Amino acid sequence: MSARRTVLLTGASGVVGRSILRERTPAGLRIISASHSAPIPEAEEPPVALDMTAERFGLDADSHAALAAEVDVVIHSAGLTEWGLAAERYEPINVEGTRRVVEFAEQAGATVHFMSTAFVAALAQGAPVPLGEENVCRNYIRSKHRAEQLLRDSGLPHTIFRPTNLIGDSMTGWTSQGQIVQLMSDWIGRGRAPFIPAHPGIRMDFVPQDLLSKAVLRAIELGDEQGEVWVTYGEEAMNIETCLQLLVKHAAGRGRSLNLPPVVNADELEPDAIAKTPPMTRSYLSVLRDVSEVTRCSGGVLPTSMPELRERYGIPRVDDTAAYLASLEYAAEYLG
Ligand SMILES: NC(=O)c1ccc[n+]([C@@H]2O[C@H](COP(=O)([O-])OP(=O)(O)OC[C@H]3O[C@@H](n4cnc5c(N)ncnc54)[C@H](OP(=O)(O)O)[C@@H]3O)[C@@H](O)[C@H]2O)c1
Repeated sequence: MSARRTVLLTGASGVVGRSILRERTPAGLRIISASHSAPIPEAEEPPVALDMTAERFGLDADSHAALAAEVDVVIHSAGLTEWGLAAERYEPINVEGTRRVVEFAEQAGATVHFMSTAFVAALAQGAPVPLGEENVCRNYIRSKHRAEQLLRDSGLPHTIFRPTNLIGDSMTGWTSQGQIVQLMSDWIGRGRAPFIPAHPGIRMDFVPQDLLSKAVLRAIELGDEQGEVWVTYGEEAMNIETCLQLLVKHAAGRGRSLNLPPVVNADELEPDAIAKTPPMTRSYLSVLRDVSEVTRCSGGVLPTSMPELRERYGIPRVDDTAAYLASLEYAAEYLG
């Protein structure tokens, strides 16, 4: 691929967007960053303001057409990522926003690389157990699942990236915003969790954000126009015991002694075990239980494309435990 191509990056101010912009831009690519409300310190040229919830992204017809005429590839990373909201909240951004990206890409003749989530595995037809109606991630996951379907139905050239929970940069732990794994781990590492609700045998699958960014840019470089890429560690991901031992090691490195909380089978919890804890604890324990349930519904181990990511995209071999420790350090230093 030698011709110069222009990439529109939606969600450029988000964690994934900023991580992509921090990577070396492959030769022959120009990236137009799309912002919504937040600044994008890494953007090399002034961002365009796009609103995923508005027709034509809030642009007038001429500006929309002019942008489409420039763009060859869309990285669609804008989305509502907070969990626990009503289904209607996700619809305008995650579903309708993706429909608008499809319309735009059709007009532009562009390939779309969509940032979905590995959690859609929990909604697969062959899931061993159905995901609970009350699961905090459910409405978010469903919106991403529907967005994927819109893309598939469009017939557009596209790839779907399905990252698991992201942590910071693989070497430095850097992140533009604290990720749930970092914040929750920091909380457990400070001895605040009375117990850890988890389903037996599940893996703790966290991926450094730069691995995703490298993979997306490499897919564009290679001109990929189809594929579903699970950005997860799968069978390589650490188990819960290793994860907790790393928290002990991290705490010791900071001069703290951490008495590990017991791991409690989430299926055998007393009905009010979580409900009777103080509000902050309740909220964190509920998220831990529900994320564990998502993994359990995905078979306990998330599907993965890590071998292909390494072979085809040249993604560096990064040990998840080392990356996790780097993220813990970063969180303790800068996000506490
Ligand atoms: N982070 C993870 O662990 C993770 C894991 C799996 C999948 N993903 C997926 O990866 C994508 C990016 O995630 P992220 O962590 O970067 O999310 P994030 O940090 O929450 O950023 C979300 C981005 O979407 C933009 N956005 C929100 N509402 C918008 C609107 N109405 N119009 C235009 N843009 C809007 C935000 O712009 P402003 O800030 O400017 O408002 C921001 O740039 C998401 O689709 C998410 O589902 C993320």
